[in-house]
Amino acid sequence: MQDDRLISAKVLAEDDTAETSVRPKRLEDYIGQNKVKENISIFISAARERGSSLDHVLLSGPPGLGKTTLATIIANEIGKTIRKTSGPAIERPGDLAAILTNMEPGEVLFIDEIHRLNRAVEEIMYPAMEDFNIDIVIGKGPAARTLCLDIPPFTLIGATTRPGLLSSPLRDRFGINHRLDFYEENDLAEILMRAAGILGLEVDPAGAREIARRSRGTPRVANRLLRRVSDYALVKGDGSISCSMARLALEKLEIDEFGLDNVDRMILDAVIAKFGGGPVGLETLAAAVSEENDTITDVYEPYLLKLGFIQKTPRGRIATEHAYRHLGYMAAGGSVKISGLFDE
Ligand code: ADE
Repeated sequence: MQDDRLISAKVLAEDDTAETSVRPKRLEDYIGQNKVKENISIFISAARERGSSLDHVLLSGPPGLGKTTLATIIANEIGKTIRKTSGPAIERPGDLAAILTNMEPGEVLFIDEIHRLNRAVEEIMYPAMEDFNIDIVIGKGPAARTLCLDIPPFTLIGATTRPGLLSSPLRDRFGINHRLDFYEENDLAEILMRAAGILGLEVDPAGAREIARRSRGTPRVANRLLRRVSDYALVKGDGSISCSMARLALEKLEIDEFGLDNVDRMILDAVIAKFGGGPVGLETLAAAVSEENDTITDVYEPYLLKLGFIQKTPRGRIATEHAYRHLGYMAAGGSVKISGLFDE
């Protein structure tokens, strides 16, 4: 399924350009994730005082929470260039060797989706991270020789939505390991007011709060909704975003008060109506809603779990009472309108 949904946490083509201008460049402008920010700030200062390169950093968490932004900020704060690539883009050990041997001392290498590095590439990474050298095999068969090359000291920043998929030798080589969590509504409202200021949009605080409330804790979603609500306000009003204008626009966009869209509701509906409330396995569920397994796991499920609409059990996903109520399967008194989990 083509993913051009409004609440998708994936990067859409439009986001790339629209977001770059509002992305914070320094740590002091980065809103939310206070514990992560505090820690990183200390490690950066310590590395500066020691005159050494910053230890390798692993950033994990659902998509759209600012892992790439934070990596760019870290590079800015240590005054070094950042080179960006991704796990699947580094196909062969030679690709990684070429990148590493071309780095300047202290530079930052950012690898998105680092859990998708293949095993052969990962093995080059271990000595590179630990001792700043790489072993290159030259030739094939009995004549093959291993060459050990020194590389400049560098900082690897890895980003992943699935830290559990990282092999432990790789995970253990990151000295700094932080998980980004969904943002608080207050922080998202502040992010929206900041973005509105940069983009020259007129948004009142109640309007920003209304958008924040439906942004599923994700700045990328918040900024995207801001653009759509702004379009709506321009055509239907005088361009300014009040609370009622935001509410009206978001209703038209079919984003409900929890920030769920049609696909989220389809997932919940499938668990309840097609699979009797669950448990249902990932593949069966993904097939029922025509989505990829990874998209369900990375994009939809984390927020539905956070809201308490689904739970994961060893036998699969189950819908909770909250989900039954939200979709109107359960009346106020608690009686279930279809057969399912709460029949027993
Ligand atoms: N834009 C996206 N994420 C942000 C953040 N954490 N702080 C400020 N602006 C942002």
